[in-house]
Amino acid sequence: MNSKRPNSIIIKGTGKYVPERIVTNDDLSKIVDTSDEWIFGRSGIKRRRIAADGETTSDMALKASKAAIESAGLTPHDIDLVIVTTVNPDMLFPSTACILQAKLGIRNNIPCFDLEAACSGFVYGMEVATSMMASGRYKNALVVSSEKMSSMLDWKDRSTCVLFGDGSGAVVLAASGEENAGILGNVLGADGSDTAMLCMPAGGSAMPPSERTVREGLHYLKMDGREVFKHAVRIMQEKALEVLDLCGVSAEDVALLIPHQANTRIIETVAKRLKIPSEKVYVNIENYGNTSSASIPIALDEVVRGGKVRKGDLVLLVAFGAGLTWGATLVRF
Ligand code: UT7
Repeated sequence: MNSKRPNSIIIKGTGKYVPERIVTNDDLSKIVDTSDEWIFGRSGIKRRRIAADGETTSDMALKASKAAIESAGLTPHDIDLVIVTTVNPDMLFPSTACILQAKLGIRNNIPCFDLEAACSGFVYGMEVATSMMASGRYKNALVVSSEKMSSMLDWKDRSTCVLFGDGSGAVVLAASGEENAGILGNVLGADGSDTAMLCMPAGGSAMPPSERTVREGLHYLKMDGREVFKHAVRIMQEKALEVLDLCGVSAEDVALLIPHQANTRIIETVAKRLKIPSEKVYVNIENYGNTSSASIPIALDEVVRGGKVRKGDLVLLVAFGAGLTWGATLVRF
């Protein structure tokens, strides 16, 4: 294998897939005590996509991946590294990345693995792929974030079930000879001191599934939304500034901010604190809700295909999620 170190790692292709079924706030108001006014006013969400019965995380990943590979002008056989980020793997093991590899019908001598960093998964995945590719050993990496959040929601809990949606976003990262292009910098972090703030208590080795865990609904997502909100605003601002500083640029140089889509009020506050005007902030939460790690690559695909980024533009990605985890990436298109 040619191990020449690349000058940069660029985003060569993007793709997304969201399930067909649309569930509106009005639909949800028929199953829990809520309203379009509350959901939209507090979160910015109008509707979300929900996977069909039997539609899996890897099925969604497959569709997003195919779109990304095609837009990169490659075939699945050109991919030499697969990273799937998800909190809803098809099963605890084997990894969804291995299941996806088989569905893509690609080579069996390449590393394929899952990475779990909750909503920050995509930004973590980009850093891991970029670091592995810097050695020169991998030329075209597929990073795909796929989330079937509907599989872990308690449809009787109005404080959580209205907020999330299903979907998948993917990028093909490629080793390039270009200078000062692609992924310019990445900062990651985590704080595991209060894991209960956002978690799914049962189903793992700490609390294996049992009649009791099902009866008590411990296999559902639990969140202290107010606490998460406070941390999200502070940390997203800090990490955005940190990655800009690392790359020697200022917020004014950013052409587009793509934040994790958890709440428009979080996004607006972060953008305001960074002094990035709203026209430079991409928001699509209205259509999809919070799709966890898939939210940034879904948005990325929409801005690329929508012609909202031009060659040379600086795009800032900032994520925050359970763990707590966080990360920010600066990309030059
Ligand atoms: O991606 C992972 C990261 N996740 C996040 O970033 C989520 C961050 N948090 C949030 O986005 C917000 O905290 C929420 C949207 C989850 C909630 O907004 P909030 O302004 O913090 O509302 P709250 O939790 O303080 O609840 C206010 C009220 C409560 O009633 P009382 O106690 O004031 O009488 C809730 O019971 O709203 C009530 N409520 C609802 N009412 C109607 C909670 N959920 C609903 C609902 N419909 N769906």
